[in-house]
Amino acid sequence: MLSMKKIFAICLSLVIVNVISAQTYKYVGADKCKMCHNKPATGDQYGKWLKDPHSQALKTLSNAHSVEYAKKNGIADASKEPKCLKCHSTFEKAGAALRGGITAEEGVSCESCHGAGSAYKSPVLMKNKTQAMANGLILPTKELCIKCHNKENPFFKEFDFATYSAKIAHPNPAKKI
Ligand code: HEC
Ligand code: HEC
Ligand code: HEC
Ligand code: HEC
Repeated sequence: MLSMKKIFAICLSLVIVNVISAQTYKYVGADKCKMCHNKPATGDQYGKWLKDPHSQALKTLSNAHSVEYAKKNGIADASKEPKCLKCHSTFEKAGAALRGGITAEEGVSCESCHGAGSAYKSPVLMKNKTQAMANGLILPTKELCIKCHNKENPFFKEFDFATYSAKIAHPNPAKKI
């Protein structure tokens, strides 16, 4: 016979397992999304992102503006500085434990906006928006953008969601018919 104490302990451990699994989606890297999201007929999201400044965000930390800013502010190398990397790369945000397949080179990649993909990238889940979202997929709104597009950035420019979204839009034309 199970004692009440044991039953309680089992329930508690189930709750804990649930909480942990909800938080352990790993980052898989943009190459994994590329396999399925590089077809012109469905919007070539990967190709569009390669032309979008977000994919160049790590390189920017080595440009002349960054070098000058780093020098003035006692930063040895902005491209290795966590304070800059936290907005200029998905890698830094992911943290060591959840990094999975991601590299710093990809800058601000798919998963900075759409959430860590280890669970939702499966073909079955991806085709079902509700299920994909229950497994970590995010469809970003302004609130997500302004986590990075804010005055903590030394090179901040006024952020207008409509204008900025249009600049990086990568819709699936097959869906809009
Ligand atoms: C095995 C193929 C596959 C992989 C891998 C994959 N996707 Fe998808 N994804 C799809 C399909 C199919 C759809 C449904 C058609 C569509 O909306 O483009 C989809 C839909 C989406 C949607 C739109 C959801 C909606 O209904 O509005 C987003 C956002 C998305 N994927 C992001 C990603 C990201 C980010 C990655 C990488 C972490 C990824 N996908 C990996 C196949 C894939
Ligand atoms: C993880 C941080 C992060 C998030 C989240 C983010 N961005 Fe960005 N964004 C950046 C960085 C960093 C740059 C600068 C990239 C570069 O030039 O190296 C940038 C640049 C841009 C640019 C180019 C601006 C220009 O001057 O040409 C647009 C447009 C943009 N972001 C739109 C968005 C939108 C829309 C969202 C939300 C859906 C968003 N961003 C979410 C970090 C982020
Ligand atoms: C709070 C998030 C955030 C932080 C922290 C951050 N950046 Fe940025 N950075 C951005 C965003 C967003 C943009 C794009 C701004 C735009 O065009 O609207 C950007 C743009 C830039 C640019 C492009 C502007 C240009 O003239 O070339 C440089 C350079 C830059 N950041 C360097 C840095 C450096 C160096 C650090 C660390 C000291 C840093 N950033 C920290 C978010 C951030
Ligand atoms: C800077 C943020 C940002 C990045 C980076 C980003 N996306 Fe998106 N993505 C968005 C926004 C915003 C939407 C529109 C969401 C909506 O319609 O509610 C979107 C929509 C999508 C859709 C749905 C298109 C449709 O019409 O149904 C797919 C698929 C997608 N993204 C895949 C990707 C993939 C793959 C990557 C990386 C190669 C990527 N995204 C990178 C912000 C981003």
